[in-house]
Parts: sequence; structure tokens; C-alpha cells
Amino acid sequence: MSALAKNYNRRKIAFKRGKGSFLYATNGKKYLDFVQGIAVNSLGHANPYLIRAINKQAKKVWHVSNAFIIPEGERLAKRLTQKTFADKVIFQNSGTEATEAAIKIARRYFYLKGKPNKNRVLCIKNSFHGRTIAAIFASGSKKMIEGFGPKAGGFDHFRFGDNKSLKKAINNKTAAIMVETVMGERGIKVIPDWWLRELRKICNKKKILLILDEVQCGIGRSGNFFAFENSRVKPDIVPIAKGIGGGFPIGAVLMTKKVASSMTPGSHGSTFGGNPLAMSVGNAVLDQIFKKGFLKNLKKISKYFHAELNKIRNAHPKLIKEVRGVGLLIGLQLCKDQKKFIQKLENNKLLTIRAGENVVRILPPLNVKKSEIDFALKIIRKVCKEIKL
Ligand SMILES: Cc1ncc(COP(=O)(O)O)c(C=O)c1O
Repeated sequence: MSALAKNYNRRKIAFKRGKGSFLYATNGKKYLDFVQGIAVNSLGHANPYLIRAINKQAKKVWHVSNAFIIPEGERLAKRLTQKTFADKVIFQNSGTEATEAAIKIARRYFYLKGKPNKNRVLCIKNSFHGRTIAAIFASGSKKMIEGFGPKAGGFDHFRFGDNKSLKKAINNKTAAIMVETVMGERGIKVIPDWWLRELRKICNKKKILLILDEVQCGIGRSGNFFAFENSRVKPDIVPIAKGIGGGFPIGAVLMTKKVASSMTPGSHGSTFGGNPLAMSVGNAVLDQIFKKGFLKNLKKISKYFHAELNKIRNAHPKLIKEVRGVGLLIGLQLCKDQKKFIQKLENNKLLTIRAGENVVRILPPLNVKKSEIDFALKIIRKVCKEIKL
């Protein structure tokens, strides 16, 4: 019997090693892994470049306190700001810590402006920003908060795509609007560019901050470095995690100079956040993602994947309702519960994972090969036929 608490419903499968897009299980089978730790292993399993980077750093220094200068972190922060809207970065260890930090930064920004009551954050009802106390109450999901009261105050909610409910929820205590650019856990729901621009307009008009949670959709997964880039919207604060570490736990919050000025010494911290080992891996991930042609190729390959999945959907309209997502953050929304479909894919050696609204989430590594996508498509076609019978 496992000594681990039962807070996960684990599938009965374990792995002894991975290589690129594939995982080798203890049951002797080889699986095409289109979960990749839920959009974490941006460069696949056992990437030789990342292995070299981590080994090199491990021989030098793993960890020093943030009481000292960490050159690897200085470098990673500089590269993130040079390539994005951001002027400043704070490193963390996970996505939920990054969203927590975003909330803290927004509140403190208004506090130091002499508006301590302007401290409420407005989020989409049933969104997902992580599992800390603040993050679960930010998410506004009944299921996630069950048994975890008392309520963490300071959050209001509006409905996805509903400007009326959004405008109604804003009041003079609102400090920020926080949304996932692509709602991952809740079913790969993409916030359209026009709505992102509308959110920015509302924030400007009300003089409040815009936080775009890119923990799942950021770091190249959408085909752009950030999923909001096509909209040309400039957010104030962006939490990231997952893909930036390529499997090593890294979180970060990126922000403009304006809001960063509120984060004075002692206002926030983390023992592990930004340590040399993590920062070296982060830099190695960026070396690959910033390589000329990397994102261009990702866009090309994902366009092909979406087009082929849409052909499958057209052939099976009673099974697949919609192909959702951007880049390599893909959801197949089924007409019925997706559990059987995911199990059948697994039986055929393709690993995928569920998301809300009956969605099968498909998350290949960002350097996936066309032949691997073709292999996945073959399995998906086969399963569609099997389920239809
Ligand atoms: C959009 C978003 N925000 C925050 C989180 C929380 O990240 P973590 O699980 O690393 O704490 C997740 C995790 O899936 C996420 O998808």
C-alpha cells in the first residue's frame, strides 16, 4: 500500500526513463508522451542540452541564498525582459507561487500609492491559478475551495466572455483583473485577441492592472513566446512557470517598471526561488526556444496538427465537438465524457490528459517531430473508429 496521501487519482502506470517525446514504462511498453508533465517538459524528456547545463552547474554551485547576487538569475531575468514587455522579474518555484506573487504585487502597488483599500482582484469564475489558499479562492471554483475555508477575501468573479458581468463586478476597490490567456485546466479556452484588447481598455479606463497568467500557455507553447502577443496587448504583470524550467521547478513573475517599484527589499521572497541550479536550466531552455526558427517551426508543425485534427473531427462529428487551442496547447472537446477516449489512447500507447468541459488535452514537447505527430494522429484516428463501433 502506498504511503502517499490520496490527493491524486493516479493512473496505474510508472516510467523508468524518457527520451524526447517518448516514455518507457516499467510494464515494458513505450508510450508517445503528449502530456509532458502537463506542458512542463518543453524540450521533451532527457534533453541532452539541458542535461549538460544542469550537470555543469551542479559541479559548480547548486544553491545560495537570495541574500547574495546570483549571476545565473541576473542573466535569465535580463533575457526575459529583453524579449518581452517586462522590465523586472522575481523568481519562484511553481506556478501557484507566481500567481500569488502577482496578486501581492498588484495589492502592494496600490497600497504604496496610498490606496490600501484598492486590493481586490477580479478573476474569471472557474478559472485556474493554482492551489494555494489565495489561488483557489481566486479561481472561484466551488469544488476547489470545498473544505478549505475560511474564505480568503479580496476576489471577485465574472463570467468568461461576458463584458456585462465584468463591468458590473468592477468597483473602486478593484486593483486588477487576472485571467489565464488560455484557460488550460478548464478546457483549453482561448481568450480571443479582441477580448484581451477589451480587457486592457477597461483596465486603462479604470486605472487598474492587467495580470495575464501564462503559467501553462507561455514560453513558446502557443507558437509565440507569450500567448497574448498577437493581440499586441501589454499586460502589467505576467506569472509564468512550467515550460521555463523544462521539467525543473521554476516559477517567475514578470512585470513592468511601474508596478515593480512597489516590491521593495523585504516585501517578498523565497528560499529556493531563483537558485543557481534552477537558473542555469532556465537559461538553457531559453537558449533552445530563442534559437532562430524554433518558434517558426513550432507554428508550422502545430498548424498542420490542428488541420489534421479538424479533419478527424469532421469525420467524427458525433464524437468530437471541437478542436481547441493554440500552437501545441491543444484540446479535443468530446461530445461525451473523455475518460474512455483517454484510456483507449493510452491502450494504444499515446498519453494525453483531461481538462474541463470534456476536453482531451494534447501537449507535445515544443520540439516534437512531424513523424511523432503523424504517429499520434494515426492512434487518434484508430481510437475514433474503435469508439464509433
Ligand atoms: C494557468 C495556471 N496557473 C497556475 C497554475 C499552478 O501552477 P503549479 O501547479 O506549478 O503551482 C497552473 C497549473 O496548472 C496553471 O495552469
